[in-house]
Amino acid sequence: MCGIVGILGTEPVAGKLVDALKRLEYRGYDSAGVATVENGTLDRRRAQGKLQNLEARLASEPLHGRLGIGHTRWATHGAPTETNAHPHMTDGVCVVHNGIIENFKELRAELLGQGAVLSTDTDTELIAHLVTRELNQGHDPAIAVQHTLRQLEGAFAVAFIFRDHDNLMIAARQGSPLAIGFGDGEMYLGSDAIALAPFTDTISYLEDGDWAVLTREGLAVRNRDGESVVRPIQKSVASALMVDKGNHRHFMAKEIHEQPEVVAHTLANYIDFANSRILLPDMPIDLASVKRISISACGTAYYAGLVAKYWFERLARVPVEIDVASEFRYREIPLEPGSLSLFISQSGETADTLAAMRYCRGEDQRIASIVNVRESSIARESDAVLPTLAGPEIGVASTKAFTCQLSVLGCLAIATARARGIIDARKEAELVTALTEVPRHMSAILRDEGDYEALSHTLSKARDVLYLGRGLNYPVALEGALKLKEISYIHAEGYAAGELKHGPIALIDESVPVVVVAPNDEMFEKVVSNVQEVAARGGQIVFISDAAEDAAGCDVMAGIQLPETHPFTTPLIYALPMQLIAYHTAVFMGTDVDQPRNLAKSVTVE
Ligand code: M6R
Repeated sequence: MCGIVGILGTEPVAGKLVDALKRLEYRGYDSAGVATVENGTLDRRRAQGKLQNLEARLASEPLHGRLGIGHTRWATHGAPTETNAHPHMTDGVCVVHNGIIENFKELRAELLGQGAVLSTDTDTELIAHLVTRELNQGHDPAIAVQHTLRQLEGAFAVAFIFRDHDNLMIAARQGSPLAIGFGDGEMYLGSDAIALAPFTDTISYLEDGDWAVLTREGLAVRNRDGESVVRPIQKSVASALMVDKGNHRHFMAKEIHEQPEVVAHTLANYIDFANSRILLPDMPIDLASVKRISISACGTAYYAGLVAKYWFERLARVPVEIDVASEFRYREIPLEPGSLSLFISQSGETADTLAAMRYCRGEDQRIASIVNVRESSIARESDAVLPTLAGPEIGVASTKAFTCQLSVLGCLAIATARARGIIDARKEAELVTALTEVPRHMSAILRDEGDYEALSHTLSKARDVLYLGRGLNYPVALEGALKLKEISYIHAEGYAAGELKHGPIALIDESVPVVVVAPNDEMFEKVVSNVQEVAARGGQIVFISDAAEDAAGCDVMAGIQLPETHPFTTPLIYALPMQLIAYHTAVFMGTDVDQPRNLAKSVTVE
């Protein structure tokens, strides 16, 4: 993971590098650094922790070079210390790197055997030494980098600057994304176009295996085989505006509150409101003939896929194979050629999801993706893209992206059911109406935020919290547990309520809060029975339902009553209490809500 940037500028670039890095913090934030070339000298500033530490370092010890590279890190090899922070350098070359060098051990042993003095635990430092070895053999920088790239195994993006060249930057992409930006007498590179948005909207994306030589005058790209290639230049729609928190204390709070609007916006992209029917954008995939669907995704996006499995199977009668992408990619699943494979990702850059997608491409699948970042790798490699219109999601804990993913998946399931003749126009209209009502129900829930604040004080004292749900809302329970653990660091697990008695019920005692997702649907009575089993063992119930609290049939620690909704849309509605519980618990506990420890927004390594 990590974010990289580079600028060949006409004035000192350190400040601009930091600005670009701020826009890449979603990729990692445990340390950061920049380096520039000035008067034939390579110099760098690095700092452990958030970017503000690097800014402070630069304020006291400025860099003045007009050519530089920068990095914000999510540690893979080596602890998140200043020593291990990028850029890494030797006398003659300096490098920033996103990704993992898989033959790290072999290369390290080889370099140490040849007398290299290594001062960090990183795989990146090895790259600087490999290039230096080539330079010392008399090769020019481009050849030195080309020879080095051939020795590296893994998925990565790298950028180099050189002590003796004040108009040269070399970059390469193998697996990890890299955008090149064109300015007025300046050139830029970054892990994505958003990082470059303040400087340029004219972007070219390197393709896998490409390496590029940048000067202020332009760009020369070669592919893996060393052939000169031209990559299309396009206008990026990435916004130059730095997203801010508005009136909210955290991005997560802002993003939770944006949901009525962004869900409505997303639905509007797929619904013909005048005729109460789904209208998908042009899809080169015939939904009527879909016999099987495979879904893969990670984390929250996977839980959205899990909800969709229930929708596709029950409503459209299409069997769905679903797995987390990190397992899916290695299971060597036999897939029938021509079937539909669906990938869900907010960032569109998650390495495991991308790899699962490429596996499916090799198995001759039709590839559709649901992504929030339109210019992402996953979007660009799909046959059909169904965008979520959530806008930039900055908080590491995914909120609005999840409900927008559910919105798109709900529409796709309805469209598939209709195309296959399983539901008629009346049923379609009923479900479309239910989706249309979701933003209004969400607004009502957000008006009662105080309920969650009060509850969070109790939850913050718990060591473990269980989440229970059934059917469509089993994935919502899983998502609730994930939200709580990732931002409050309280251990939480989601279970299918009916599964509790097969083991997890042994965990229940008076100290364990149990959050129950219990919409008054066809599973309600079953869930209530499970609640009573928990209550009988002293479990502290948080009962979330559109039924009144006394419907739980036992004493509950807290009851949260939600608006009555159509059963089809309950996952969209019940997601909000999950987010609010986690958010307020984390705020009360004083954790770093938007950038929780050990995480990154976009996981571009395996
Ligand atoms: O960008 P993606 O949707 O592919 O990311 C997938 C997961 O990394 C992500 O949902 C993660 O689980 C979130 N931090 C959960 O809040």
